[in-house]
Amino acid sequence: MPMPVDQPQSDALVFFGATGDLAYKQIFPSLQRLAKRGLLNGPVIGVAKSNWTLDQFRERARDSVEKHGGVGPVGFPKLLERLCYVDGDYADPATFEKVRKALGGAKHPLHYLAIPPSLFGMVIEKLKESGNAEGARVVVEKPFGRDLASARELNRIIHRVFPEQRIFRIDHYLGKNAVQNLIFFRFANSFLEPLWNRQYIESVQITMAEKFGIQGRGAFYDTVGALRDVVQNHLMQLVSNIAMEPPPCPDVESIRDERAKVLRSTQAIERGDVVLGQFAGYHDEPGVKAGSQVETFAMIRMHINSWRWRDVPFYIRTGKSLPVTGTEVIAKFRQTPPVFSEELPPQNYVRFRLSPNPETAIGGSVKQPGERLLGCMTELTVDEDCGTENLLPYEELLQDAMKGNETWFAREDYVEESWRILDPILKDPPKPLIYEPGTWGPTEIGNFPPPPGGWSSPQQQEAPKG
Ligand code: BG6
Repeated sequence: MPMPVDQPQSDALVFFGATGDLAYKQIFPSLQRLAKRGLLNGPVIGVAKSNWTLDQFRERARDSVEKHGGVGPVGFPKLLERLCYVDGDYADPATFEKVRKALGGAKHPLHYLAIPPSLFGMVIEKLKESGNAEGARVVVEKPFGRDLASARELNRIIHRVFPEQRIFRIDHYLGKNAVQNLIFFRFANSFLEPLWNRQYIESVQITMAEKFGIQGRGAFYDTVGALRDVVQNHLMQLVSNIAMEPPPCPDVESIRDERAKVLRSTQAIERGDVVLGQFAGYHDEPGVKAGSQVETFAMIRMHINSWRWRDVPFYIRTGKSLPVTGTEVIAKFRQTPPVFSEELPPQNYVRFRLSPNPETAIGGSVKQPGERLLGCMTELTVDEDCGTENLLPYEELLQDAMKGNETWFAREDYVEESWRILDPILKDPPKPLIYEPGTWGPTEIGNFPPPPGGWSSPQQQEAPKG
């Protein structure tokens, strides 16, 4: 992993939204692992407005780790030693005074805003007014803004307090080993890269399917929808990793430059390149507004007008309540001419399965048994388990942010480009078409052209290993 030079290690961690869902599902389990590995320095301060005591907060931490991986005999006591809790309103300067006190002598705290985007501006201002921003870094959760204009405004607000190199726009997809592997596999293997371009690749498709619905998150989900929840961030990250050029040097900004360049060369999405859907029954979910037109499914065709990719369509498909849970990238190679008979052999492809269990596969054609010279598809599969324990995505990203390493965080220009691409359909979205839960989305999709050869859907896998 490329390292930035001369960055001080954070000596305290403050997380806002400490009694929320994200802290419960992701942050506490990651903090326990960081504590076990001796990577937490100084106090770990949770901030929220829940009228809780420190004991209640500790109980919440215990419950969280119990449900997500188990209470570690080494890590959990170490985490408890450091855990503090500040209860208070984010609009009240007294809350930030309490945070200041809890920080003790810390000089480089990391402030993690695991709170709704509407509160980012206020908390950032208050961090400044209270002196808590000095020497500090800030981690900001997704979605970063709601569209291009609001993302720009948010960048403006944050930059009044924090310089870019102290801002960490987090997207947990970038902390996944399988997502980082997209870049590694491409550039570390000599057989693939010469073919990875418009001359040989016909199309790329990315499916992020979720069998579950919105899991009680209606109040949040109904303010975002699939485009803002996962397309602008997670899925654009995958497109960037698949399409980027090799960075000229292995330093942080060279990697981030190449990822941003992919988005810069991507056309803004037009109406004809998108289908939105909503699963039947969405309106009955708690927190969803009556008559909501928010999409739970999106299918998009993207055009990257770079030298390498011009005229190679990139398809994205994501949705809630689909038949399986699985995320997969498939790059299909162009068809060979027929061999020995007029029947075309199946096309080659590379398939990256990113979750639940990562694997990389190369689809190749072999002769079918029998008299005729006909092909059938078979896969060479690489199981990505190299024998070392994977870090949890939030564990890796928090560890990086505490070190000041921004490699796997979204830069200002990257985030704005991702919103620019989606802006036309966010401003004037097509009406979502209703689909039955457990199906692959709406069936009446008008003129939307399917990927050449059709969609390849991920197969259901077992629950994640480990
Ligand atoms: C989150 C979205 O960012 O990512 C969720 O808010 C989505 O709606 C989740 O389910 C998917 O993450 P993962 O790591 O389970 O693929």
